[in-house]
Amino acid sequence: MRLGERATIGVFDSGVGGLTVLHRLLRAIPGADYHYVGDTARAPYGSRSAGTIINYTEESLRYLESFGCDLIVVACNTASAVALPRLEVDFGVPLIGVIGPGVTCAHQRGSEGILVLATRATIDSGVYQESLRALKPDRRVLGLACPLFVGIAEEGWAASSVAEVVAQRYLSGVDITGIDVALLACTHFPLLLPSLRRVLPPRVEIVDPGGQIVALVSSRLGQSGRVGTPKVHAHLSDSSPGFRQVARLMGLDFSGELSSVDLAQRPFRPA
Ligand code: DGL
Repeated sequence: MRLGERATIGVFDSGVGGLTVLHRLLRAIPGADYHYVGDTARAPYGSRSAGTIINYTEESLRYLESFGCDLIVVACNTASAVALPRLEVDFGVPLIGVIGPGVTCAHQRGSEGILVLATRATIDSGVYQESLRALKPDRRVLGLACPLFVGIAEEGWAASSVAEVVAQRYLSGVDITGIDVALLACTHFPLLLPSLRRVLPPRVEIVDPGGQIVALVSSRLGQSGRVGTPKVHAHLSDSSPGFRQVARLMGLDFSGELSSVDLAQRPFRPA
């Protein structure tokens, strides 16, 4: 797109987690219209079967497509890992998944050992482990499913002692010898970063791939949206007090631009 053209950007996540990506997008690309879909009625996705994740993701993306988006950021790692490879062919609008940026970001640290923190479905898909090993076969890659982090973030407890205790419990089950990078491979997890920092050994660098995702979106949009004032509309499939709370912590205020949507209902209004 050219300078002065205003893009419409869709951002999809299973719940509040995608706000960590939206927040960065708004800073880098302020001159755009944003539609954020959080499937709060059906989250968490990460503990569901592949078939269910694919169906829910497809419905959410079809809804976003109805706003005439120039591109849609599938901010949810679970949806990117499990559903995106099966959906890409069916959509007219470019879908930007987050696995590639996450892999690039962790790989660029040049580390010998990477701990991938994600939902169970993302870890079970093996996509991060395979992609990281393909780039450096002798490196240690350890996948750790941390599904409770999602509920903790949705509840607005990411900075509480609960987050720390749960993180300690998850880490006690794995041997992190040789690990020097921890990749936050779930959009909800950057919200727990201060708690994770207190629990992981200082030698372990915690990597949030949000910046890499934004760089990819910016490169796809060219000069569009670099200046201006954003318009943001959030669409949730269920009311979520945690959503407003997390949004407020990030300086995002959705009062008046927050609506409810039944994502299973079709067809949506035409673009
Ligand atoms: N936020 C999603 C992700 O990035 C998944 C959270 C969930 O719904 O389980 O993986």
